[in-house]
Amino acid sequence: MVNNDDFFKGKKPAAVLKHAVFTSYAYAFCSMIGSGHTGPLWLVDGYAGPGKYDADADGAQVNGSPIVALTLAAKQRSFATPRDVRCAFIEANQAYALALSENIKPFVDEGLRADVYQGDVAEHLPTVWSRAVNNPVLTFIDPFGVSAVSKDVMTGTLLKPGRTAPSEVLVNINVEAISRHGGYLQWDSHHDPEIRRGLKPHGVELSDAFFGGEWWRRAFLEARDRTGDASAAAIEVVDAYRVMIKEETGASSLAVPIRRSPTGAMLFHFTLFFTHPAAAYKFADSASKGTEKWREAFRRKDLEEALSPGNGQGTLFDDDLREFSEKDAKLREDQLQAAAIAHIEGNISALIAPMQSGHGVQLAPNIERLVGAYLSLAGEPAIRRAWDNLADAGLVRARDKSKSRSMWKQYIVKR
Ligand SMILES: C[S@@+](CC[C@H](N)C(=O)[O-])C[C@H]1O[C@@H](n2cnc3c(N)ncnc32)[C@H](O)[C@@H]1O
Repeated sequence: MVNNDDFFKGKKPAAVLKHAVFTSYAYAFCSMIGSGHTGPLWLVDGYAGPGKYDADADGAQVNGSPIVALTLAAKQRSFATPRDVRCAFIEANQAYALALSENIKPFVDEGLRADVYQGDVAEHLPTVWSRAVNNPVLTFIDPFGVSAVSKDVMTGTLLKPGRTAPSEVLVNINVEAISRHGGYLQWDSHHDPEIRRGLKPHGVELSDAFFGGEWWRRAFLEARDRTGDASAAAIEVVDAYRVMIKEETGASSLAVPIRRSPTGAMLFHFTLFFTHPAAAYKFADSASKGTEKWREAFRRKDLEEALSPGNGQGTLFDDDLREFSEKDAKLREDQLQAAAIAHIEGNISALIAPMQSGHGVQLAPNIERLVGAYLSLAGEPAIRRAWDNLADAGLVRARDKSKSRSMWKQYIVKR
């Protein structure tokens, strides 16, 4: 088994992970929002890429996020009550945009609605918005580095207050790049932030644009002085940005650090900005489904690499290896799940400890505190088991199992 986090930062593994989380949440978004909406739903990909790309040395092609979105749209259209999911893809690079137009053709030929806009995301979003009119939109923002949409675009377009239909934004926030930009800063003689000399190009202005000004520079240096940790300082800055977005637009957010274990290095930092009360709960669950799919993708990849070349498939050794790999993966998954359930039981107990009997904690608004260190590693199945265990122990009331589809609304009530 490969245990090196760097390996998981490769382009192909990164794509598997990002797409697994994106597609799982986009599915939840369509179900959650689509059930109460009659018109089309929109998936907007602001940094779309070419749609397909070669990833690793093995040359196997990986679908890009636009193809992932269209595959989901095709599935939604085949439901007994079909959903009309439309896609808009924005891509700055001309060659990528051309490749993307080719790559989406099979879907368009089958009648799906999808358009490619070549150019800057900020330039095209108003057009896309005017086409989406007042229909729900989920926008995926997945740039290289910190060059994500500016704060003005977030507050003035994507999350503009007053829109009647929901608009949610899923952003891949590159905490590593923010902490690198922060590392180029220092205090000047007046205790104001300045960029260390001789560091051009440094890219600090990209973080300025994302955060909507230079305020983050001071916040970063203060946090780093206090914590001695550039990564923790970058996360504090992102948290402050999320508070600002909430104040200016009303959109709440959930930041999910995607990692391989509760104490492992953070690989991605997906943040969802939302207004629907179920969104955070569904997103936490989607992140855990995505990371599970990702672990399975790696098991298969490791296995492929380990299978003896030249021996041919199906030799005794290869069969043993396959069986071992499956058993080992199941054991690891069971261990992860058991640890997550125990952790969530502890979190529920701590949350209800100060409450009187008959009072409780609602799942959706407390999802971060309930899942705690297992955010992105555990979702609804682990919450259910933890709740049931505590109910069996007589500490909380049993959940209403007839309403498992809207579990996010339920309260865990202290006995
Ligand atoms: C990380 S890649 C996106 C990968 C894609 N989301 C996927 O999963 O397949 C970022 C893409 O954004 C494009 N890009 C960079 N700056 C852009 C901008 N200002 N507007 C639109 N696209 C941009 C790049 O050319 C690149 O293809």
